[in-house]
Amino acid sequence: MVARRRFLQGLSALGFGAAASGSALGAESSHLVEPAVATDGFNPQIELELRAEQGQVSMLEGVQTPVWRFAGEVYSGPEGTLTYLDGAGHIPVIRVRRGQKIRIHFRNLLPEATIVHWHGLNIPQRMDGHPMYAIAPGSSYVYEFTVDNRAGTYWFHPHPHERTAFQVYQGLTGLFLVGDAVERAARLPEGDYDLPLVLQDRSFDSQGNLQHLSPARHDWMMGFSGQRVLVNGKADYHREVERAAYRVRLFNGSNSTLYRLYWSDEKPFTIIATDGGLLTNAIDQQFITIGVGERVDVWVDLSGRDVGDTLHLMAESYNPRLENITAAQQGAELQGGARSVARLTMTEAQASRADKPSVLSRPPNLSVDDAVNISSPKQIDIAMMRGQFMLNGRVFGDMHEVAPDDRVALGTSEIWEFVNDSQMGMGMGRGMGGMMQMAHPMHVHNVQFKVIRRSAASPQSAVSEALAQGFTDFGLKDVVLVMPGEHVQVIMQFENYSGIYLYHCHILEHEDLGMMRNYQIDPA
Ligand code: C2O
Ligand code: CU
Ligand code: CU
Repeated sequence: MVARRRFLQGLSALGFGAAASGSALGAESSHLVEPAVATDGFNPQIELELRAEQGQVSMLEGVQTPVWRFAGEVYSGPEGTLTYLDGAGHIPVIRVRRGQKIRIHFRNLLPEATIVHWHGLNIPQRMDGHPMYAIAPGSSYVYEFTVDNRAGTYWFHPHPHERTAFQVYQGLTGLFLVGDAVERAARLPEGDYDLPLVLQDRSFDSQGNLQHLSPARHDWMMGFSGQRVLVNGKADYHREVERAAYRVRLFNGSNSTLYRLYWSDEKPFTIIATDGGLLTNAIDQQFITIGVGERVDVWVDLSGRDVGDTLHLMAESYNPRLENITAAQQGAELQGGARSVARLTMTEAQASRADKPSVLSRPPNLSVDDAVNISSPKQIDIAMMRGQFMLNGRVFGDMHEVAPDDRVALGTSEIWEFVNDSQMGMGMGRGMGGMMQMAHPMHVHNVQFKVIRRSAASPQSAVSEALAQGFTDFGLKDVVLVMPGEHVQVIMQFENYSGIYLYHCHILEHEDLGMMRNYQIDPA
C-alpha cells in the first residue's frame, strides 16, 4: 500500500500547474544529495555553461510558443563545440571527441527541480543525472567526465522523477555527438553534410501553446501522442540540401510515439550507425522503426537528383498500443497512414558523387559465452496492474533502494531478458475494463548492449510485423523496443564505474509513473 500511496502522490504532482507541483518536488529533491562542484586537478579540454531556462521559439510558422529549453556558452573548447540545430533552433548540439575531458556548469533556471542525464554515456554515477541528484530552482550542478564512448549520436534530457515527461515535452532536449579516429577513417559526410533530424510530436492550443496530457491516470498510461510531428523543433520542416552525400542522424525524441520511417522515393536507407555508434558495415533496409530515445544514422547520396527535386522523410506514427495515429487523424487518403515529416529540396550547387561507405568500424564483440548468467538470464517482467506500471512487480519509489536481484558485478557481462507477456489488466473502473498490451522501449543507463534474441510465444499482429521490418537490432544500442508478447534478450558489459544506475521504459509517461528501477554495479 505504500507504493500505492506514492503513486497517487505522484499523480497529484503530475500535470497540474508546473510551478506549484514543481516547487513542492524541488524542495523535496534538492536535499537528497549535495550537488557536484568543480574539482581541482580535473583539467577539461572543453568547459561550458548549460542552462535550463524558459524561452519562446517558433515551432509553428509565425507563432511564438513558450518553451523550456537548454542554452549555454562555451568557456573553452574548439569552435563548433556548442551549436543549435538549424542555426537558431532551441535544441543544442554539443560536439566532443572521444577521450576528451568535459566540464559542464549546469544551471537550473526553471521554476522547479531538474537534473540532466547524458543518455548513452558510460560515466560515473554522480555524472549520470539520476533523479536523486535533482537540484532546486536557482542551483547549479557541475558535471565533469571523460568521454569514453565510441563515436556516435548520444543525447541529453532532464531526469527528475515524475517530471521528466513534462520537462522534455516543454522543449528540454539536446544532442551530444561524439567523434573519434575510427569515424574519421570511415570518411563519412561531415560539417554541413552531417544532418541531425530530431523527431518529436506535439499538440498545440489555438494560441500556439504546447499541450501535454491532463493529469488523468488513464491518459498517462497510454502515453502522449501529438497532432504534429516536429523535426528539429519545427512543424513542416523544410531544408535545402546539395546534391551530395549526407549523414542523416535520425533520433526519436518524442515522449511516447514510435515511428516507421521511409524515404519517399522508396529507396532503402543505408544504415551506418545505431545508438552506440558505427556498425561494422553499412546495411540497406527499406524501413526504420524508431522507438523513443533511439538513434539511427543513415547515409544518403543525393547526387543523382535534379535541381529543385524534393525528397521527403515519411513517417507512420504509432502510440504505445501500436495504433497508427496518422491513419486515425488523416483518414485513409494517405496510403499506410504515413505523412511527410521533413522535406529536403535540392539546390543548384554542383552535384558531387560519393562512394557508399563500406567498412565502418569494429564494434566491441559482446559474446554470449562470456555472460556470467548464460544459463539463467536475468528476467525483467514488464507489467501493468491496478494502474501501476511495474518491472518485476516493483515501481520506482525510493531513490537509493536496489533490489537484491538488481545487482551486478563490475567487469562482467550479463544477459537481460525483457518479457512483455502480461495481458495488462486495466482494472481502472470507469468503463476502462479490458486487457491491453503495449510496446515498451526499454533503456539501460551506462551501457551499450547488443540484442541477441527476440521471440514471441504467439503470432504477432500485422502491425507488429510491419514494425519489425524496420528494427535495427544489428548495432550496439541502449534502447530496445519490446513488442507485445515479445521476449527480448540483450547482452551488455558493465565497465569502468561501479554505482547506482537506472533501467526503465523510455515512454516518458511510463517512466514517471514508476516503470523504472535502480540497478547497482558492485566493485569487482
Ligand atoms: Cu534517456 Cu533514464 O534516460
Ligand atoms: Cu539514459
Ligand atoms: Cu512503457
